[in-house]
Amino acid sequence: MSDNLQCRLAARPVGLPDASTFEMVSEPIAEPGEGEVRVETSHLSLDPAMRGWMNDVPSYIPPVAIGEVMRAGGVGRVTASKHPKFSVGDEVTGLTGVQEHAILPGEALFKVDTSLAPLPTFLGTLGMTGMTAYFGLLDIGAAKEGETVVVSGAAGAVGSVAGQIAKIKGCRAIGIAGGQEKCAFVVDELGFDACIDYKAGDIKAELKRLTPDRVDVYFDNVGGDILNTVLTRLAMKARVVICGAISQYNEAETKGPSNYMALLVSRARMEGFLVFDFASRYREAAIELGGWLAEGKLVSKEDIVDGGVAGFPDALQKLFRGENVGKLVLKV
Ligand SMILES: NC(=O)c1ccc[n+]([C@@H]2O[C@H](COP(=O)([O-])OP(=O)(O)OC[C@H]3O[C@@H](n4cnc5c(N)ncnc54)[C@H](OP(=O)(O)O)[C@@H]3O)[C@@H](O)[C@H]2O)c1
Repeated sequence: MSDNLQCRLAARPVGLPDASTFEMVSEPIAEPGEGEVRVETSHLSLDPAMRGWMNDVPSYIPPVAIGEVMRAGGVGRVTASKHPKFSVGDEVTGLTGVQEHAILPGEALFKVDTSLAPLPTFLGTLGMTGMTAYFGLLDIGAAKEGETVVVSGAAGAVGSVAGQIAKIKGCRAIGIAGGQEKCAFVVDELGFDACIDYKAGDIKAELKRLTPDRVDVYFDNVGGDILNTVLTRLAMKARVVICGAISQYNEAETKGPSNYMALLVSRARMEGFLVFDFASRYREAAIELGGWLAEGKLVSKEDIVDGGVAGFPDALQKLFRGENVGKLVLKV
């Protein structure tokens, strides 16, 4: 058997991480201990949150330590098991880390059914991405039929699913994305009602034109200036869902929304959430999302990069350069 190539955190990045942030280390493939399972990783999830996990600051999860395998969600196949619930050949998902072979406690792994969808979809629409869109829009955003929903990062992993769920629920869905090509994808392939290209200039006038009844739910993936602008268009009792703020992740200081008093004027609320808060309800979301996929109501778009573990630093940069359409996945 060959070695296990791992990508470990070598230094805390300032700004955008690059190759010098990581080191590639090869070590012998280990055997699982009692209660553990070995997984051969087939695909890894690329997440903007990875940037935050590299900072040594208090957060919802401890930072990745220097010298530790970079944290990542993955899917793969069981190659050895000392856990009664898992057998060799099972296909699973869990926090495998950026490495070719992961040893994990059985309790930290979930079996997936690839008769429903291909493995990478369990990192996207049927994984954390889909769960985030589902609970963020329907629970935190409480989107209802007839309402206007605006989604930033609309061509990305979470945004593309959030906007489609809004349409399934009978809302008007307006996306915001970078570039004409992405906007065309959002409207033509995902079925949003319209999409604003924020790179084409000031989005304020376009937003006003496209939201004559203002914005009932803003699902925010990017923060910064776009959040600040959408705050000026809120309807009465609007809900602003703080899912993420990718525009701020590589900044030394986070830029806050100066227009926050719009919340008072509109009697609106702004609420952040973490998908993990909904862990006890993942099954409910998976059944509903899986049903919409099977019925053809939901398009699942994965953007698969064939770079292996060594390609991780470059693949991560793609997210921050906005080069992905749909869920960015690294093939190991
Ligand atoms: N709360 C939770 O539990 C949770 C869970 C998962 C993800 N999230 C958050 O959800 C958001 C989306 O994550 P994702 O996995 O779906 O990533 P993604 O949207 O697939 O990829 C990132 C996209 O962000 C956009 N972007 C990059 N830099 C930007 C900037 N400076 N300003 C505006 N847009 C920028 C790019 O699209 P454009 O080309 O359109 O700019 C890029 O394609 C992130 O903020 C993430 O942290 C939150």
